[in-house]
This record gives sequence, structure tokens and C-alpha cells, in this order.
Amino acid sequence: MEKIFNSETENKQKQLLLDKLINSKEKLIANNNIVNILSPGRANIIGEHTDYNMGFSLPIAIDKYKFLTGIKNNSDFVEIYDSSFKEYYKFSLSNISFDSKVKWSNYIKGVVHEYLIHNHKISGFSFIIDSNLSIGSGVSSSAAIEVGVAKLVEQLFDLNIKPIDTVKYCNSAENNFVGVKCGYLDQISVVFGKKDCAIFLDFKDLSHNYIPFNLKDYLVLIIDSKEKRNLSTTEYNKRREECSEVVEMYKNLTGDKSINNLSEINFNMLKNIKVKIPEKLYRRAKHVISENIRVLEAREALVKGNIKEIGIILNKSHKSLRDDYEVSTERLDYLVDEINRIEGVLGARLMGAGFGGNIISIVKDTELDNIINIIGEKYINKFNDAADFICCKPSDGAKKMIF
Ligand code: GLA
Repeated sequence: MEKIFNSETENKQKQLLLDKLINSKEKLIANNNIVNILSPGRANIIGEHTDYNMGFSLPIAIDKYKFLTGIKNNSDFVEIYDSSFKEYYKFSLSNISFDSKVKWSNYIKGVVHEYLIHNHKISGFSFIIDSNLSIGSGVSSSAAIEVGVAKLVEQLFDLNIKPIDTVKYCNSAENNFVGVKCGYLDQISVVFGKKDCAIFLDFKDLSHNYIPFNLKDYLVLIIDSKEKRNLSTTEYNKRREECSEVVEMYKNLTGDKSINNLSEINFNMLKNIKVKIPEKLYRRAKHVISENIRVLEAREALVKGNIKEIGIILNKSHKSLRDDYEVSTERLDYLVDEINRIEGVLGARLMGAGFGGNIISIVKDTELDNIINIIGEKYINKFNDAADFICCKPSDGAKKMIF
């Protein structure tokens, strides 16, 4: 396992890999030996921090992608060139271990490791990653890469894996190899995304169904605050622990041992233990319970075509994430407050884990340019940093591209 860059030999090796892939692409495309995978990011319309509490979410896979091109290389090595990092990396299948220096490599290693421990027959392969999906901004570039690598492996080695198992392998890679104790939201969205649809997810049994996503003359606008989530790993895992603590306290205080997670607790049940648990933990639980209700309300609003209502629900969700779950930041609050002042904006909230990253908003299509101009200027004046704007639509989940 090694990372190679910045020296002559290293550059040569990178060039060799690129040449190999480019030549193969030309020569082997007819033989179908080269595999291209398109793997989307995700936007979560509503249902934040509910996945690991066995609640509900309503995400979409988005039309921004990781694009992977790979071939088998008849060796024991996996070699990668990631064009976002402009880095080449190589590791042996017989020695896969966590690399604390090259963080991005762990998402790939973790997934490959899963296929090996589940006894799937795979050998070395080489691939290039291209992307128009920004990294670390809350649109789940990590799940896009995990699922992209999984689909590449499945295609290259003719593995017949159920999509839900692909989800589980990728989720396990992130939890057990990378070390972020995430829920299933991101991986399910990237695997099961569907063009023009939102995915209603029930994490209790990992089931999903599709809701036509028609915002009429409104659009989904994501604004990347560019605030990198340095603390996210620790704080994210801490929120998970706090949720488990409430469940344990509930069981002990009421003697009801049948409760397994926060989504099995309703407001009345929470009220019964309110004064007996720390106020902070009460607020954590309040967020999860109210967010599950908001997902159901948003689903109904979407089905009825009541887009204004979705905006109102987004605003309520932000308040809850900010005050009760405490995962917002000054920048995210600023973006949500400022965008809501503009004509043609129905609502906004922080999206994803929080602690930085981005916000999602529902905006009138004809006002888009005006909104981008106003927020772009205000944001740079306030934080001396340029926000990024991503307009997105629901897309299909990760799939093999055929040219
Ligand atoms: C991150 C995690 C998801 C989910 C969200 C919050 O994106 O990867 O599993 O918990 O945060 O909803």
C-alpha cells in the first residue's frame, strides 16, 4: 500500500496508468473490457439525522456525479488516479489498511475490503475518477465514490449482488473502515435514485418507494458555504451516542424494554421523561421525533403539489437542527436567514450532517439569477469567501454507462 506522487517515477507511473486506460478505452471498447460508471451525489429534501434513528427521509439522487472508468489489470493491485485531488494511489489486495495520510483512499479501500471479506472473487483493477460533484460540501461525494467503486467492482468481476447488499457493503465500509458511524441515507439515495422522483425511505426496514418530484415552477438550489466540516466525524458520532443515551434512559426510567430506537418514541412518551433527562438530550430527541413528522408532512405536500408547504417545512427543520440538534453554524444560519428574505424563496435549511457544508432551498425558477447574485455578493462581503451554487434535479442512481 503506497501513495505515489510528486517525483519523476511517480509521475511516470501516473502517466502509465492514464495511457493504459486511454489506450484500453480505444482498443478494448468493442470487447466491453472497459467499464464506465456514473455515480450521483444526493440531496436530502427533508429528514436529517433520522437515518440512524430508524426514522424517515425524503432524498433525491442529483444530476452531479462521480464518473469512474476502469479495467482489470491482471495483478494484485488496485490503482487509481483521482482527477479532483490530482493524485495517483496504489494498494495491494493482500494488504488493505487504513491510510491516515491519504483520507480519500480509505473510501475506496473500505469498499474493496467489503467485497473481499464477503468472499467475492476479485483481482486487481485500475481506474480513473472524474467528478463534477464538490467534495465535503454535504452532497455526499463520499457515498458517490463508495457506490461508484462498488458498481465498478461488480461490473468488472461479473458479480451478481442485490442493490440492497451494495448499500450495506458501502455503508459498512464507511462505518467500519473509514470510521464515520453514518446511517444508510447516503448510500441508499445513491443506489436507488430515480430520475424525476424523490425517494421516501423508511430506515426501520430499509424499504423505499418513489414519489414523483414535481416542483412546478420552483427549483432545488443548494448553496455550498465552503465551510469544511473539520469536526464532523467526532460531533456526528457524538449525536448518535446522545440519541442512544435517550433510548437507554427511556427504557430505564419507564421499564419499557421494548423500545429500540428514538423513532419508536413519540412526543407523549418523551414528555413523560422530560424532567428526568438532561435538557440537551431532550432537545436531541425532540428534533428526531419532529423531523420524522416533517418528512411525512413533506411527502404529503409533494403528492398534493403544495410546494409552498414544503418551503415552510424546510424552515421548521432548520430551526430544529439549529436549536435542538445544534448542528448548524454561523455561516449556515446566515445563508438560511438571508435567502429567506428574498422574493421567490419558499424556504431553506442546512442539509446533511451540518457543522458546515451546505443549505438546500426551494426557489422560483425566474428568480434564480437574482437570488444567486444577491446571496453571492452578501456572502463574500460577510465571510470573505465565495459560496457555490448548485441547481439540481432528481437523477437515476449509480449505473453502468454504455456509449
Ligand atoms: C450524513 C450521514 C447520513 C445522515 C446525514 C444526516 O450525511 O452520512 O447518514 O445521517 O448526515 O441526516
